[in-house]
This record gives sequence, structure tokens and C-alpha cells, in this order.
Amino acid sequence: MDNTLRFAQISDLHLYAQKDFVYHEHNTYQTFVQVIDLLKDEIEDLDFILLTGDMAAKQEKEVYYHIDELITPLGVKWHWLPGNHDSATLMQAVAPKLGVQTTRVFEAKGWRFILLNSVDPEEQAVEGILPPEELQFLNQHLRDAPDTSTIVALHHQPIALPGAWVDPLGLQNKEEFYAIVDQHPQIKAVIFGHIHHAKLWERNQIQYLAAPATSYQFNPYTPEFSLDLLAPGYRLYTLETNTIYSEVKRVSLKN
Ligand SMILES: [Fe+2]
Repeated sequence: MDNTLRFAQISDLHLYAQKDFVYHEHNTYQTFVQVIDLLKDEIEDLDFILLTGDMAAKQEKEVYYHIDELITPLGVKWHWLPGNHDSATLMQAVAPKLGVQTTRVFEAKGWRFILLNSVDPEEQAVEGILPPEELQFLNQHLRDAPDTSTIVALHHQPIALPGAWVDPLGLQNKEEFYAIVDQHPQIKAVIFGHIHHAKLWERNQIQYLAAPATSYQFNPYTPEFSLDLLAPGYRLYTLETNTIYSEVKRVSLKN
């Protein structure tokens, strides 16, 4: 039996209810369709797809139906977690009508996944926060399975990027998050979106992985807001016992 786990991380779709809506020369629906087309090359080997937030650009519920219409027919399980442009309340309300899996903790081929909601409870702020209940949820599910290799996913970047324009918009209580993460060596990776930029960092032998956006890309390192010309894409993961390989797949810029 093939014990290799493969999954795709799709992030920062920024979709509108109106499929042909163009925002600053970007039709985010069209680029999302292109990314899904690219993903079809890998679909037979995929165990699941994980959307790490900002599916919607402005909390419109139609967006979640648009996503379902494209992903559910692929025949692969899919999971999601909210970003600052989403409404977790709206997501919960529409989920029963969609093919999305709503479990926030699940296991696949010997790996455990814990999905966090890092959106401020008022659903207004751009920056992220893990409130006490969310930290408690993480801690509890890590304690429940200390010997199972685990990946933690959230929308906001839990890493510091000093001097960069995105830095104040990341997870605000990183130290509280690290205090839990550092006590649980079964965590092999923390994965996120929000910075519209693909990158791998390492901290205390844990990989911190950001996925590209399916919409427009940012240059997150400049002091002021700036866009990057890289094409939209997704991150593909291949997990073997305790080992994580991942690569970024991008659509052709010609389209
Ligand atoms: Fe975001």
C-alpha cells in the first residue's frame, strides 16, 4: 500500500460573487480556474485539498458556491479555514450545502492536521489573532496525539518579517503560539497563506511554509505595499514518514 500522503494547499483566492469582476486588472475567478486546471495534472495522486483562507474578497456567500462548483467535481476531499476577507459565520452557514469537509482535526495516512481560525472574532481586522479558546483547542489536540506527526494550518503568517509592510498584518500573538508549538515536537510543519507569496522558513526544526495566492502575488519584503509579477499557483505537498517535500506549481504567465 502506498503510504505517501499528497495534498495541495490553495490560498488567497479573493473571489467575488460576480465571476467576471476585475479588480486592478485581475480577474481572480479566471486565475482560480487556471490554478484548478493545473491541479488536475496531480489529482489522481491527491489525498485532499486544503484552502487556507481569503476565499472571498468581501464576505460574499456566492463565492463559496463558486468554489464548490469547481472543486467538488474533482472527487477529492477538500477542507478549508477562514482568512480575514472571509466570514467564518457565513462559511459555517453554507458548508452543509457544499462538498467541503468541516472537521478541524483529521488524520490521513498517519499524519494529523489541525486547522486554526486566526481571524479576529469581530471579523473586521486584517491582522490575525489566536484567541485563548483557539490556543486551547490547538494545545488539546496536540496533547491527544503526541506521537503522531502533525501539520498545523492557519491563514495568517506566524513568522516575523521585520521592516516589511506585511509584518504588522500577520499573527499578533506569535509568542503564545510558539509557546505551545515548542512543547510539541510532533509538529513537522506550520502552513499558511495571507502573504500571497511562496516561501519556506525553518524554526526549531519545524518548516514554516507559505503558499502562493491563486489571485495576485505580493512582494512581502518591501517597506510599502508592493505586488510581484509571479504567476498564480498552489503548493503541492508529498509526505513520507516524518519527511515533508513540497513544491510550488504556477500557471503559465501567457494565459
Ligand atoms: Fe489574508
